[in-house]
Amino acid sequence: MGTEQSGTIAVFGGTGQQGGSVIDALLSRGAHVRALVRNPESEKSRALGDRGAELARIDIGDAASLSAALRGVDGFFLMTTPEGHTLADIEGETRQGVALVDASVAAAVPHLVFSSVGGAERDSGVPHFESKRRVEEHLEKSGLPATIVRPVAFMENFSFLAPAVENGEIVLRMPLPDGIPLQLVAVRDIGRVSAALLLGSAQVPGGAIEIAGDERTGSQIAAAFGQHAGLPARYEALPLRVLGDSGDAQAMFRWFAETPAYQADLAAVKAIEPTVWDLPTWIRSTGWTAPPAGE
Ligand SMILES: NC(=O)c1ccc[n+]([C@@H]2O[C@H](COP(=O)([O-])OP(=O)(O)OC[C@H]3O[C@@H](n4cnc5c(N)ncnc54)[C@H](OP(=O)(O)O)[C@@H]3O)[C@@H](O)[C@H]2O)c1
Repeated sequence: MGTEQSGTIAVFGGTGQQGGSVIDALLSRGAHVRALVRNPESEKSRALGDRGAELARIDIGDAASLSAALRGVDGFFLMTTPEGHTLADIEGETRQGVALVDASVAAAVPHLVFSSVGGAERDSGVPHFESKRRVEEHLEKSGLPATIVRPVAFMENFSFLAPAVENGEIVLRMPLPDGIPLQLVAVRDIGRVSAALLLGSAQVPGGAIEIAGDERTGSQIAAAFGQHAGLPARYEALPLRVLGDSGDAQAMFRWFAETPAYQADLAAVKAIEPTVWDLPTWIRSTGWTAPPAGE
């Protein structure tokens, strides 16, 4: 991608997966990035600085630090996260988003891109989706020019939900019945779509877009890993009780099992990001190799 004149784009969460991918995409397009970080001395913050991002120290509980960090920016990417998975963390996620939106109002940010989650606007009942919906509503009420991106399940989840090898066969297990398509997105593409929106090279009708790069059932996900490894593959659906006492995770997998759960329009995403990754491309990008049998 070529260098563009973009002014300054602020990014919250730049030391994490989504914000990091937004910064990758912005820097590759020659944009000037201001990363809002709570610890500029952390290894990840310093790495952003080494790559040319400006670092602005913020404290999410200190409104003045947030609005000062946003002063004069031309665009702002924000995401929110429950840092743990308790209901209190999930309420904290809404407070985080509301604080960032309020600071954007104070700094008169001309365009925000908020990364929420696919289905947030469809009464999913999933606690950490509803918390993002509250942020969407607050953003809508703020009157600020904004675009909402709603990513579906991250392909990166397969870094920790990776399949095993058993008796020479790839085996993938998830608490989701087989035959139900689950939409997937590579975090890289959340960054590329968000950067396109922030830099004005893409717009979305209605100001919101669900983002996915692939859609596969459990067996089809297992098959993608199997093909990559050159091994036969099978999928095994697990009961929801493997999720233990996490009501939040159970609610999400129950929602996944209702079709359609995620509803991204893959062609619309491809129109914005023509190189959007499918699952086999993501697997190749990770350099994943089948673990030795038994691991
Ligand atoms: N996994 C999925 O399939 C999926 C799908 C759709 C949506 N989502 C949503 O994506 C979100 C997680 O995104 P992610 O994977 O990019 O998160 P992540 O990698 O955990 O990164 C979180 C980022 O937020 C920053 N942060 C958190 N609390 C902060 C605070 N109080 N002050 C300043 N910075 C703070 C972190 O900074 P530090 O480096 O300082 O910690 C880090 O940069 C969750 O809300 C999840 O529900 C996930």
